[in-house]
Amino acid sequence: ATIALIGAPTDIGAGHRGASMGPEALRVAGLAEALRERGLQVIDAGNLVGPVNPWQPPTEGYRHLAEVVAWNRAVMDAVYGQLRQGRLPILLGGDHCLGVGSITAVARHCREAGKKLRILWLDAHADFNTSDVTPSGNVHGMPVACLCGLGPQPLTHLGGSAPAIQPADIRQIGIRSVDQGEKRLVKEYGLDIYDMRYIDEIGMKRAMEEALEGVDADTHVHVSFDVDFLDPAIAPGVGTTVPGGPNYREAQLVMEMIADTGRVGSIDIVELNPAFDEHNRTGQLAVDLVESLFGKSTLMRD
Ligand code: ARG
Ligand code: MN
Ligand code: MN
Ligand code: MN
Repeated sequence: ATIALIGAPTDIGAGHRGASMGPEALRVAGLAEALRERGLQVIDAGNLVGPVNPWQPPTEGYRHLAEVVAWNRAVMDAVYGQLRQGRLPILLGGDHCLGVGSITAVARHCREAGKKLRILWLDAHADFNTSDVTPSGNVHGMPVACLCGLGPQPLTHLGGSAPAIQPADIRQIGIRSVDQGEKRLVKEYGLDIYDMRYIDEIGMKRAMEEALEGVDADTHVHVSFDVDFLDPAIAPGVGTTVPGGPNYREAQLVMEMIADTGRVGSIDIVELNPAFDEHNRTGQLAVDLVESLFGKSTLMRD
């Protein structure tokens, strides 16, 4: 399928400014060119537009909820439009609150196409907060809860009905920062979390085998890649670094094993924040890893 890059230059759900520069940093790092080099067709659909970040404190547990909703509507429409045309959308975030719009669109597409959905949520964070338990009010800490039907009505019902997905559709990998109240919620909802402790114990290969179990010819795989998934030693260009993440080899293995399924149908690349980066080093690493997600390997396997 032709790949469609969709830029969403906003930091509306984040706790630091700067993820709004993510789409351009990924372009400057050569994302489209790298994919074309792999023989893939790529169109750059340009950037979506939305409200500016008013940078206000939370009201009723959310920062900028109206603006977050506006951006997510634009993302949902754009991602759905590309899927409908048979393309493989790559959402260039932007912060991770945009996962609500992106995945709501993907879930609708899967329902219409009669496909099973498997979401691989690569992140340091579970992003399962609610207005009651959030320590920050930042909506980028809430998208998974919203998708599972827990959150403000305009986000849970972005696609018309709720929930957009079932907890069983998602596997979270690399998790190492979950807030107090959030821990209770992920347990209650039964989220399948491959946290760093588990990965340390069984190894990334086995963890990924488990996370990919059941992916078959009828499955649409969506990869929601929060760049803070990576260890900050290799990926400093994010607003919410958490030590103890996957190293370069582990991250490559994750991407290569996902590529091996041959079922990737849509991707988010979110939370890249050039204001924290070192000469776009993290942007370049993200591009390198996305190449692997499309089957680039060190040996001649293909
Ligand atoms: N758990 C924290 C919060 O809710 C941090 C969330 C970070 N999320 C992210 N997508 N980087 O504020
Ligand atoms: Mn995230
Ligand atoms: Mn994160
Ligand atoms: Mn690579």
